[in-house]
Amino acid sequence: MQITLSEKERLLLEDQKSHEQICIEKYANYASKAKDSQLKDIFNANGKDEQTHLDSINQLLSGTVPQMNQQQNQSSAQTAGSNTSTSSTATALDLNDADMCSDILMAEKYVSGTYDTTIFECKDTEVRDALNHIQKEEQKHGEAVFKYMQSKGMYNVK
Ligand SMILES: [Fe+2]
Ligand SMILES: [Fe+2]
Repeated sequence: MQITLSEKERLLLEDQKSHEQICIEKYANYASKAKDSQLKDIFNANGKDEQTHLDSINQLLSGTVPQMNQQQNQSSAQTAGSNTSTSSTATALDLNDADMCSDILMAEKYVSGTYDTTIFECKDTEVRDALNHIQKEEQKHGEAVFKYMQSKGMYNVK
């Protein structure tokens, strides 16, 4: 389906595009740095989804609504643990696993919120649905990290 974006939609989608790019970088970087292999797997699986999100946003920006039929729901559970895509950009900060979890959880929370804002500005139902699908996956990413943290005593639910 072809769509014509309003100026506001385009600006918001450009923002989402840069958010997705940052998420891809963060997950690649953190997957390479995580000490625990279970956490590496979660970071790699989430990062893979972020690449799909970026592709979808690029499609929307080019005027096409992407097909969201490939329900890859339990993304984080099992995916290849090989972290070949290590964009080894040296960071000054020396983060441990818990720090990386907290940081990425904050990023997911933020990105989910900005998807919400974007969805409310969209003219087409199909576009809203596509973005809603992505937003749900962001929440799943947050859930995977939350549950990991909880299981390791990094996140205390009171
Ligand atoms: Fe994403
Ligand atoms: Fe995400």
